[in-house]
Amino acid sequence: MKLLTGSPGWSTSADVIVIGSGVAGLTTALNLRSYGMSVLLVTKARIDEGSTKWAQGGIAAALGPGDTPDQHKKDTLAAGAGLCDIKAVDVLVSEGPEAVRKLIAQGAVFDKSETGEIALTREGGHLRNRILHAGGDATGAEVSRALLAAVRDDDGIEIIEHALAIDALKSPAGRVCGVTLHVIGAGSRDGVGRALARAVVVATGGLGQVYSQTTNPAVSTGDGVALALRAGAKVADVEFVQFHPTVLWRDLANRGQQPLISEAVRGEGAILLNNKNEQFMVGKHPQADLAPRDVVAIEIFNQMQISGQPHVWLDATRIKDFASRFPTIYASCIKNGIDPTKEKIPVAPASHYASGGVLVDLNGKSSVDGLYICGESACTGAHGANRLASNSLLEGLVFGARIAAALSNDLPAQQQPVEDGKSVLLDPKILLPLQIAMSEGAGVLRSEASLTKTLQTLEELSKLTSKDPRIEAWETTNLHLLATVIVKSALLRTESRGSHWRSDYPQTQSNWVSRIIQQIDSDGNWQSKVEVI
Ligand code: FAD
Ligand code: SIN
Repeated sequence: MKLLTGSPGWSTSADVIVIGSGVAGLTTALNLRSYGMSVLLVTKARIDEGSTKWAQGGIAAALGPGDTPDQHKKDTLAAGAGLCDIKAVDVLVSEGPEAVRKLIAQGAVFDKSETGEIALTREGGHLRNRILHAGGDATGAEVSRALLAAVRDDDGIEIIEHALAIDALKSPAGRVCGVTLHVIGAGSRDGVGRALARAVVVATGGLGQVYSQTTNPAVSTGDGVALALRAGAKVADVEFVQFHPTVLWRDLANRGQQPLISEAVRGEGAILLNNKNEQFMVGKHPQADLAPRDVVAIEIFNQMQISGQPHVWLDATRIKDFASRFPTIYASCIKNGIDPTKEKIPVAPASHYASGGVLVDLNGKSSVDGLYICGESACTGAHGANRLASNSLLEGLVFGARIAAALSNDLPAQQQPVEDGKSVLLDPKILLPLQIAMSEGAGVLRSEASLTKTLQTLEELSKLTSKDPRIEAWETTNLHLLATVIVKSALLRTESRGSHWRSDYPQTQSNWVSRIIQQIDSDGNWQSKVEVI
């Protein structure tokens, strides 16, 4: 299966194609270069677009005095609610400190304490202060700046901006050997083309745009996960869409990307209050306001149900120097008419992070030869049912390096692609009803009834096809595929765990310490498998 496109009008090649220019793509590209491979880095908007530059809280790594990878591991496993892959967590926490040191050597500057040490803060689920941050709450912007500078400096990395990867190209033996791309460019590289390579790394980030309200930018339409699914790759843990508890509530009429109020604000002392001014997280979890993200999001949802209000409150007025510690958040609150130093901030959960994605091994290799996945698009198993705060940037750094090392040992000669058969394209008009259906039926709280209704809506929407290949249609078709796989997995998991919360199965079940794996076979049929971890 593939997306409907025009015929390719141009072609190019490199040793490895990296799709996406967030922390995962940039890190992979730089590491590939350290082994001498040529890299084609394609990215569908401007090079600095993506979730990475929006990251606020920071990067978690056991770098502080007395902290150890083992303690980081314990917190990661606790947040992951029994579904983490222990080997993947071991890799993340033990290789994390070195990956962060390398990032610093590449030029990233983190905030320092008064004594000149790297300042470490705390976020939900962490029992220690272990979050490095930059520019107060502009960590992602600094990570992106530093990595981009290094990438731009490297002549062995060719960058094509406004280049949307559409589908994988496969050899007769089924190995991925390139991609089709649509470029808004000039001269010979404009429109649909073909890029060939000896391996392809998907680093296209998250899928937040599947929901009406999200912290994710517009480019987060899950294209790489959809591409991998169409190429026959296995995906896992996709029912675990993380809802960030504290997203600035403006109005339900506001759709798309919403301003985040970082967990680090609670890490520095802000508290959650309900409409009776009660600190409702106290007594609900030993870590109260700093419980893992899923626990806080669900409790906020409960409070909203009780009060009938569309939000709760975050009181940050006790934080000294709020404007200088959290300049981005301060500016977005002020822009929305709220002074966080004087008044409470209205907050509600919104979709934030895909804990699952394309199933990969410890070297980022998917179940399809030649196809590697890095960052938020991947399911390494390190996050289980709920990612621990600030483990995502870290995952991009750690696994980007591992993918490059693996490819340096296993990069067969270029193979030629064969034509794939059936193509599909949906009308971009279905996007809004799709997002509304997903938010209503497959959001923070789900049930068999709500998920079945959502699946029916998705089936109805799939009848609105299009014959007009363009960016909006490709993205919408990808979002439709991802919405379908999320709902199918959420229906199968008859329990509540991590960020998957079912009103009809409110308990966590010991017989569900398993992963749901989904795949589309060569005839276009869905295959679902439940695998014990
Ligand atoms: P991204 O950074 O999203 O990059 C994806 C790239 O792929 C982009 O360049 C995009 O344009 C490109 N792309 C997408 N589709 C295509 C296509 N079809 N063809 C070509 N290119 C394509 N995590 C933390 O660890 N700490 C934090 O403090 C933190 N704060 C966050 C705050 C916000 C507001 C958000 C949204 C997320 C936050 N996260 C945080 C999560 C973290 O930022 C992301 O998970 C991480 O940056 C993902 O990196 P990535 O490289 O996988 O994807
Ligand atoms: C935040 O700053 O609250 C987001 C951190 C994360 O997603 O890891």
